Amino acid sequence: MNVLVVKDYEAMSRKGADIISALLTLNGKAVLGLATGSTPVGMYKELVKRNKEGVISFKDVTTVNLDEYYPISPENNQSYRYFMNQNLFNDIDIDKTRTHVLNGLSSDPDKECKDYEDMIESLGGIDLQVLGIGRNGHIGFNEPGDFLYPMTHKTSLTESTIEANSRFFASIDDVPRYSLTMGIGTILNARKIIVLASGKDKKEAVKKMLSNTIDTKCPATLLSLHKDVTVIVTEDCI
Ligand code: F6R
Repeated sequence: MNVLVVKDYEAMSRKGADIISALLTLNGKAVLGLATGSTPVGMYKELVKRNKEGVISFKDVTTVNLDEYYPISPENNQSYRYFMNQNLFNDIDIDKTRTHVLNGLSSDPDKECKDYEDMIESLGGIDLQVLGIGRNGHIGFNEPGDFLYPMTHKTSLTESTIEANSRFFASIDDVPRYSLTMGIGTILNARKIIVLASGKDKKEAVKKMLSNTIDTKCPATLLSLHKDVTVIVTEDCI
């Protein structure tokens, strides 16, 4: 893994935006895999700024998001669809019909996941996948466990993730207990991956991710199977 250590959150955000901007300059029709959470917010702000300045365009870009809570309505202000609209899609020149987020209201989640995989394949795969990392080493909603799922699937959230994400909800009881998420194989199929991490509370997870071992109890360690991963971490996180 290629590790870039940067000073702070702003530098991490700019570096992530630099990598995406470079890709869009070379390939205006790129397929971007995107993440939610607090980590990529600064990078999305930077991308919005560059788009407004005319430096990059999302006109022909397609996006696929990593995951979505289940069940949740796309209109719910805690849904990942809502998050993406608010933090990126509403403010850039993207065609919203080309932005894909798993449907948290699907009556047939297994079919929804299978269709999502097929859709990614029909797009020709993901050119660049953006990832954050959970304090417990999760990527997407692939939580630590005895085994991991390769493809997009419905899964339960762990207590640690429910607790970590409860900061966004009125109460911990409002956090959905399930999610739909790309699997580890879906992520590893992306041609390029960038992982963003900042802050002391991610230090342990980042250390394990970079330990050059594979452990399903830290899903991010599976990224070492990929040939083109760039980890952008702040100084206090490594
Ligand atoms: C988000 C996602 C999660 C987050 C992770 C870190 O789509 O899949 O894996 O990347 O939970 O979240 P933050 O950035 O809020 O610390």
